[in-house]
Amino acid sequence: MGTPVTVPREALPAFLERPVITSMNFLNEVANRYPDAISFAPGRPNERFLADVDVARHLDSYTGYLRDELGLGEAAVRRTLLQYGPAAGIITELTAGMLRRDEGIDVPPGAVVMTVGCQEAMFIALRALCPAAEDVALVADPGYLGLVGAAHVLGVSLVAVPEGRDGLDPDSLTRAIGDARAAGRRPRVLYVIPDFANPSGQVMSLERRRELLALAERENILLLEDNPYGFTAGDRQLPTLKALDDRGRVVYLGTFAKVCLPGTRVGYVVADQLVTGDGVEPHFLAEELATIKSMVTLNTSPIDQAIIGGILVENGGTLAPLIGPRSAFYRDNLRVLMECLGREFGAGLVSWNDPPGGFFAVLTVPFVADAEALTVSAEKHGVLWTPMSYFFQRGGHHQLRLSVSYLEPDVIAEGVRRLAGFVAEQAVSREGPRR
Ligand SMILES: Cc1ncc(COP(=O)(O)O)c(C=O)c1O
Repeated sequence: MGTPVTVPREALPAFLERPVITSMNFLNEVANRYPDAISFAPGRPNERFLADVDVARHLDSYTGYLRDELGLGEAAVRRTLLQYGPAAGIITELTAGMLRRDEGIDVPPGAVVMTVGCQEAMFIALRALCPAAEDVALVADPGYLGLVGAAHVLGVSLVAVPEGRDGLDPDSLTRAIGDARAAGRRPRVLYVIPDFANPSGQVMSLERRRELLALAERENILLLEDNPYGFTAGDRQLPTLKALDDRGRVVYLGTFAKVCLPGTRVGYVVADQLVTGDGVEPHFLAEELATIKSMVTLNTSPIDQAIIGGILVENGGTLAPLIGPRSAFYRDNLRVLMECLGREFGAGLVSWNDPPGGFFAVLTVPFVADAEALTVSAEKHGVLWTPMSYFFQRGGHHQLRLSVSYLEPDVIAEGVRRLAGFVAEQAVSREGPRR
């Protein structure tokens, strides 16, 4: 073999070297190096819930639905699953039905596009809504890495808005929008996770949700609402922005990864805004998103959609029977985490937030919780976590994100015990605040 062709690093996109992207590789590498460590890092659903997944049965349930409910013949059933399919997807009707029943979001199937995970939904929504160089997307600081990464890939500029104790604060947002306009930029969308945000675990109050919708109206921006964790509130869920939205200010992003299974990579975007213009027949924004999607992934795997479709059919068109046990488990894990933190840390040295749901909580410590500290934590104490600074544009150096979704309750207790050993050691041996 001849000398391999070399590709100069500087010929590749600069964002590949940004900490937000490289930090994820570092985390994976640490996790691989210390496979026996207890990990509070991954935001994955617990694998006890994957035990119920019976792919063959779910496919049967969906093909039964195609035959019995939609009246398709055998050839059409096979074609639906095995051929290329419509860009918008094949389970938009079932998804719209689920949204109506489970989340009080009433939109026609034509306003829904099935995507390759919520990740693709973010990608195509950003692409559609921030087309010009001066367009900017606003995002909470700390923010979700998937959204920040998608913006980097697309070359969409982000404006980070500090998140307060009650989620995003309207005054900071108004200021950030004004500053961006004064600098010649055009704020187009705000990406927001009102329910148990990743990474902060924050919940936005009902009052804040209403204020945010009013702000979007006043400032003429769209809200990109991402809601992977709202289900963990069980029957104490607050209405989503989309459910409160009577003006079409919200483009809603969703995923079946956390309630059903991540392996299908099925998510969706709801965009019932009307596209109008000279000579344009008014149509849903979803249609334009489907066109963009068709140039990214053509269509979401119909087999994957059929698995999710089968789960919906088996549960009478709702995810409620699945949500009950899952939300109880995740809330219980958070409760165990809080009890263990209280027991191991007591008052003083560290503090933490106490989210009423979701997968994440944040611990504030009196030393810099960076990659070096994480390596010590893994190597000497057998416990992993995620430095919060990875999610911040600026700050977060003294915080770590703890995810409890993936762990069993008894493992959480042991993990917090190890964490306490690590924190006690760091607090005396490492330098103080480095901001
Ligand atoms: C806020 C948020 N949005 C989206 C996703 C990803 O969803 P999907 O797996 O459907 O791409 C995650 C996963 O961790 C998330 O935390």
